[in-house]
This record gives sequence, structure tokens and C-alpha cells, in this order.
Amino acid sequence: MAANKTNVVILISGRGSNMKSIVNAINAGSLDVNVAAVISNRPGAAGIEFAQKQGIQSLVVDHKNFDSREQFDQTLAKEIDQFSPDIVVLAGFMRILTPEFVNHYAGKLINIHPSLLPKFKGLNTHQRAIDAGEKEHGASVHLVTPELDNGPVILQARVPVLQDDDASTLAARVLEQEHQLYPDAINKLVTEKLTQTA
Ligand code: GAR
Repeated sequence: MAANKTNVVILISGRGSNMKSIVNAINAGSLDVNVAAVISNRPGAAGIEFAQKQGIQSLVVDHKNFDSREQFDQTLAKEIDQFSPDIVVLAGFMRILTPEFVNHYAGKLINIHPSLLPKFKGLNTHQRAIDAGEKEHGASVHLVTPELDNGPVILQARVPVLQDDDASTLAARVLEQEHQLYPDAINKLVTEKLTQTA
């Protein structure tokens, strides 16, 4: 790894398909960052197996082993910090984070959310978009701030909502876009950071 390459830690909770899309983009040569580690808060996360097969350092910090959100977040931060990341990537990491954790990574913690923020913060975004009669839906990559799904948007991807869509067909159409969006957004962040430091 080149000494000046952007170091990334990816946090997942399950399937990890967004994490895979980032690793695949690196392997394909379209994203120039180093994934220092993948960390899951769930022991059985499918994404962990993929990361291990890719030779990426993989860790589990099981939130069930902690009495409080604060204790979990403190241990998680300690694990993350051993890799000195330039960017911490939340990729389907389904945990509410404490303000202390978020502030510790101010400006370098990013998330992907399955809606066109500021619309549909929180859960069940696809069903809510259908119920609201939206003609367009999508996904957003944003910087994380202490307020849930509220940080500045880095990049968005849009899809049409079709007349016969249900939450799962719409989710699949959005997810396909997410897999292009997340590597693109990381690329944008890295490029902007490089420009700022040039
Ligand atoms: C993705 O659709 C992501 O946008 C969403 O969870 C899914 C994770 O899939 N994230 C959120 O809802 C965060 N609020 P993945 O594990 O296959 O990447």
C-alpha cells in the first residue's frame, strides 16, 4: 500500500453488498483507496465472510456484549482507530451512534441511506416512498452528523417509482444504484480532500 493512500474502515451489520461494491471497485481499478478493515456488529454477518476471502482484516464487535450504547461505541472506536482511517464508511451499519462517536469522526464518517434525503429519514424508506406517491426515489451518501440521516449530502442516485412497484422491487432498483453510488461518492470525497490539501 502506498503511504499516502486513503485508508478506509467499513462498518457493516449484515449482507454487506455495499461493502462488496466498494471492494469490487477497488479491485477493478476505479477507486483508489485501501480498505484497512471491515467491522461488523453482528457475528453472523454474511459480509464478513466475503471480506475474509478478500484478505481484508475482519472484526466483530458484538453490540449484545455491552450494557450501554456508550460502552459499545467506545470499544468500536478503539477498534476502528487502530487502523488510523481517513474515512469511516457506514455500509448498512444498522446502529444509532452516540454523538460522542459521531463527533470523534467529524468530517470523515459517511453513510449510505436508501432515500433521496432529506426525504424519508429512518427506516422502511421504500414503502414510505410508495405510500407517499413519489414518482422518484433513490439513495444518498452523506456525511454523518449527530442528528439521524441529517448530514450534508455528498452524492445521490435516482430511480423512477413504477406503478406496480412494491417495497421489494423498489428496494432492488435502488440497491443496484447504491452499488455504483457508494464508490463514486468515496471517489468524490477523496478527490475533494486531495484538492483541499494540494
Ligand atoms: C442498504 O440498502 C443501505 O442503503 C441501507 O441498508 C442496506 C444495507 O445493504 N442502509 C440503511 O437503511 C441505513 N439507514 P447491504 O448490507 O447489502 O450493504
